[in-house]
Amino acid sequence: MPAKFQLPHPYNEGLEGAGLPHPSWKAREMGNLQGRVALVTGASQGIGRACALELAQAGATVALAARNEAKLAEVAAEIEAASGQPAAFALDVASEDSIKNGAKAILERFGKVEILVNCAGITRDDLMARMKRADWDDVLATNLTGAFLLTQALLRPMLKNRWGRIVNVSSVVGRTGQAGQVNYAASKAGLIGLTRSLAREVASRGITVNAVAPGYIETPMTAVLDEKQRTAMLAAIPLGRAGTDVEIAKSVAFLASDGAAYITGHVLDVNGGMFMGG
Ligand SMILES: NC(=O)c1ccc[n+]([C@@H]2O[C@H](COP(=O)([O-])OP(=O)(O)OC[C@H]3O[C@@H](n4cnc5c(N)ncnc54)[C@H](O)[C@@H]3O)[C@@H](O)[C@H]2O)c1
Repeated sequence: MPAKFQLPHPYNEGLEGAGLPHPSWKAREMGNLQGRVALVTGASQGIGRACALELAQAGATVALAARNEAKLAEVAAEIEAASGQPAAFALDVASEDSIKNGAKAILERFGKVEILVNCAGITRDDLMARMKRADWDDVLATNLTGAFLLTQALLRPMLKNRWGRIVNVSSVVGRTGQAGQVNYAASKAGLIGLTRSLAREVASRGITVNAVAPGYIETPMTAVLDEKQRTAMLAAIPLGRAGTDVEIAKSVAFLASDGAAYITGHVLDVNGGMFMGG
């Protein structure tokens, strides 16, 4: 008679290496990140700031990273006021040296990063025929190479710890393409390839790697759109409105939680229905 197949019980201790929830899950509510160390890039404003606040609210100790130290200090003060314990690190994801130094400082301070949110991003839009090489390079360096280098710099302790959550902030245009954004769309589609490949590499170590693909979200990045562009965007959104930074942050926090332990290599579309592809 064949041996009876039994699913491992998620409460079993010591199984977290197989991608199952951390043993201390027992003591946590779904989504509660008490005791976890998280790092959010691009945390000085917009979606990154909202992610930092959301993760802190869920109990994580949050390292905030961006270039603008003054703005980071403001976000840190907001988290502190809500009884979190953040730490701010000046880090330019377009610079390999800055990433190395920043990652070193963060690891010296916390010993590990368990939740990494690669959120820093820029746009330099133009039509392909006119796009400057520098605009291509800057966008790829910040949005894609930055995520690659920072993840690589923090991966070893995560592998050793046999638990981790990596969430990359991609974009709906990485799925659909967008006229005037060949550089940006290529970087965001690249992040999806990175997400799925890394997810396969590290799954056996209990690390999940996912992406969130926001649609049109009201942040300083989209505040530069003119009325005509806004109207065209809104017309393409079945839910009929722009999204908020908090709505993206909630999805990121979910993917970081034990509740998402069985989700990896996924691209979560948070776009009001703008794109409903697979
Ligand atoms: N707003 C949207 O509609 C939208 C849609 C899809 C995807 N996204 C993505 O979400 C992420 C956040 O966007 P946002 O709308 O909050 O934009 P934002 O411009 O408000 O914020 C971007 C953040 O990235 C940081 N940043 C930029 N370059 C950096 C660098 N070299 N090093 C370190 N930090 C750097 C900025 O300081 C800032 O904190 C980006 O990756 C963006 O591409 C945004």
